[in-house]
Amino acid sequence: MLRRGPSIRLAKKLIGFSNSLGPAELYNFHLMLSAALGGLAQGTRPPAERTARHAWSASLRVLGHVGRSGLVRIGRPGFLAEEFLPGLIAEARQLRAVARRTGPHEIHEGGPVAEALAGDRRMMELVRRSVGEALLPTGEVNYHYSNREGDYLPPHVDPGRTSYFNCMIGIEHKRPPGRRTSGSALIAYGSDGSRKRLRLRSGEAAILMASGTVHAREPLKAGEELAVLTIGFRPKRRRF
Ligand SMILES: [Fe+2]
Repeated sequence: MLRRGPSIRLAKKLIGFSNSLGPAELYNFHLMLSAALGGLAQGTRPPAERTARHAWSASLRVLGHVGRSGLVRIGRPGFLAEEFLPGLIAEARQLRAVARRTGPHEIHEGGPVAEALAGDRRMMELVRRSVGEALLPTGEVNYHYSNREGDYLPPHVDPGRTSYFNCMIGIEHKRPPGRRTSGSALIAYGSDGSRKRLRLRSGEAAILMASGTVHAREPLKAGEELAVLTIGFRPKRRRF
């Protein structure tokens, strides 16, 4: 059983340090923590070794202090499913062919349908109500694709200036054939080390507080494919 004392003491010191930083320094400190988590993790899992585990736990706590952390499920909004989903599926399929591969993952900017959804006042209002604070769009609207066996995302947080709140919308998820598995999930780690698995059905949405919540994608199985749209928002009052 891991003693929590050392990681809490380390987290307190690092939180004190983070409070002394200016916005640009805090941005860089945040990037350093994100990179460190990827190095500490074993694939998508927390490290097993005791000392590394303390560093992992302390980093989760510090990141939860620097940015808001959490995952809010918002179900399957009617306007999204009825007015936008068929267009989003068609657009995502079309752009998949020209998406850029960035490590074990692919990405492409949203097209006109995704942009129209991002600019829809009902979408903005839904996200604002779900997180309970005034927001502005960041302009980051992207399709994320995982297409190949083994595609995954290591544990990380998103850079603070671009995606404090990531509204994620499931577009398509082709499950692995012949297996009794529901397929790859996004994993969100709480500041206290808790772990939530999220699988989005087509048209289902959730908001990830992506700058303060460490998240990872489980590796894809053979024959599995998925596409998710993300729309970025930031608080009107931001720290860094
Ligand atoms: Fe991310």
